Amino acid sequence: MRDNRRVAIPQHFIQELLARADVVEIIGRHVQLKKTGANFSGLCPFHAEKSPSFTVSASKQFYHCFGCGKNGNAIGFLMDHTGAGFVEVVHDLAQQYGLPVPEDERSPAERARAAQETEKRATLTDVLAKAADAYRKHLKASPRAIGYLKARGLSGPVARDFGLGWAPEGWRALASVFPAYDDALLQESGLVIVGEDDEGKRYDRFRERIMFPIRSVKGEIIGFGGRVLGDEKPKYLNSPETPVFHKGHELYGLFEARAALREHGYALVTEGYMDVVALAQSGFANAVATLGTACTPEHVHKLFRFTEQVVFSFDGDAAGRRAARKALEAALPFATDVRSVKFLFLPAEHDPDSFIRAEGPDAFAQAVADAVPLSRFLLDAAGQDCDMGSAEGRSHFAANARPLWQLLPGGALAQQLLGDVAAQVQIGTHELEQLWGIRRAPPDHYEKKSAWRNTDAGKTRKTPQTGAFAPTSGRLRRQPVGRAGRALQIVLADPHAWEALSGADHQLLCELPTPWGPLFTWLDGQGQDHGPQPWSALREALRGHPHEAVAVDEMAKLHHDIVAEPAELRGILRAEQREQLKRRMDEALAAHDLPRYRGLLRELAEADGSPTA
Ligand code: UTP
Ligand code: MN
Repeated sequence: MRDNRRVAIPQHFIQELLARADVVEIIGRHVQLKKTGANFSGLCPFHAEKSPSFTVSASKQFYHCFGCGKNGNAIGFLMDHTGAGFVEVVHDLAQQYGLPVPEDERSPAERARAAQETEKRATLTDVLAKAADAYRKHLKASPRAIGYLKARGLSGPVARDFGLGWAPEGWRALASVFPAYDDALLQESGLVIVGEDDEGKRYDRFRERIMFPIRSVKGEIIGFGGRVLGDEKPKYLNSPETPVFHKGHELYGLFEARAALREHGYALVTEGYMDVVALAQSGFANAVATLGTACTPEHVHKLFRFTEQVVFSFDGDAAGRRAARKALEAALPFATDVRSVKFLFLPAEHDPDSFIRAEGPDAFAQAVADAVPLSRFLLDAAGQDCDMGSAEGRSHFAANARPLWQLLPGGALAQQLLGDVAAQVQIGTHELEQLWGIRRAPPDHYEKKSAWRNTDAGKTRKTPQTGAFAPTSGRLRRQPVGRAGRALQIVLADPHAWEALSGADHQLLCELPTPWGPLFTWLDGQGQDHGPQPWSALREALRGHPHEAVAVDEMAKLHHDIVAEPAELRGILRAEQREQLKRRMDEALAAHDLPRYRGLLRELAEADGSPTA
């Protein structure tokens, strides 16, 4: 799986570095730590707290905050705490320990390409920064643009904080700061457009627009949004996708909001540039905006690096509700029990900017306080257009709720919502579990001894079909996401779990749908290339992987180091096998292939009868 490996520094070196660097000493430079038993503890630097729930384990070389759930090794800590990139942190640490960073294992051509990319990135952000400077200067010289911002109620200091500017009239205004106007870099940065006809004329993309520079979380300028002063179309023009700018990943105002996110304890997600600056001016500097696109899981994941609470704000109209629905789907996979996600619906005629100007900051604060929790919005969204007074309507509601509910990570929230859905459908929770094909976690060998014991307030019951999976832990596992995620947790947390599996089991896991299959395939490649590795090393190798976020989030749900449980993994695999068999049976039925159906049924019966642990 060499293709997926974007990390320029060889794995063995990262491991050597992690072995050399003491996590207690490193974190101790940033957080005051006290020895408590086998571990060290202190006040978590990632969320506001008065009593210490941040612990650092010297033996595991890991830190974990029981308050906010953040965890990781020394490298991850430094990245999150200082905002530095992976390569930067590794080079810093290597220097401190006097270890030369070895040449990496990639071919010279690959290395050259990577170096070129890094350099290109730096050059592009330099070009964009230079343009931002020019736009800012133009704003100072344009009474018309200043007048517009003033008329919209913006103060000078806020305009300065956000680096607002003005792109003047004229086709080549940027030529005054970029004498080499034909340089391909200007085109690549999105600042200059090259005409498509034979002449290929070049001209400024942004003309006569108020300029909103968009910064990365590191503070580099990566793109712009530009607004016309009048009613011309388009109202906003944005930078195109470039090597440094990806709309689906970036949030306007996030860099500027960092301190306020900590102060307020939550992020306000809006839809517009003006919403962000207007809210900042009225005391809500914790606002960010998506960039004219629907909210993506990448957006949500990024936000949760800075805060544990997110309030999405939407206009009260139909478009707003559609956007909210997208945000719900993007947020559900990240809604762990330590996080909070809410939805604020403004009156139809308002966006946050117009609302706070019309009604004032107190009214806005009240609206935030009244925001709808994710759990309620999920139920509302599922129940839309369903007649809850009829059995059909309630069933329709259940069918709508299922795909949403399945996106939730396992936990108390998911369990409660299951109960809520069941109550609204007017069936028992257990019936709903059966209807949705939810099985409880397979027992480990310890629990199996008491498989008949009722541990969960009478909720656990042995059913004939799930005999081998007699529920005892009270922990709900859903399929296929929950089960695959759990398997991933086990093989990532236990360096030897993967190699202990059979080839057939490897295949089973590698063929799971995205993102699971690709992640297991990646892990398989890692094992072949480097042998068994602890999660701390795998975590680093994952950087840049397309499903990095999924794996990291899955591991973040482990509040304690996992106790390797081969029986549980085998149980999951058998369940997965059954699931596949059932899918194939469905297919056989759909194809009216009864002999095949019967054959599969026999296989299923055998699988059900086979020991699972
Ligand atoms: P809105 O049309 O709601 O504009 O677009 P707004 O934010 O309220 O702007 P003002 O108050 O009229 O100045 C919301 C967001 O959608 C994107 C922009 O990111 C904008 O902030 N958008 C909108 C575009 O990218 N292009 C457009 O033409 C319009
Ligand atoms: Mn507006």
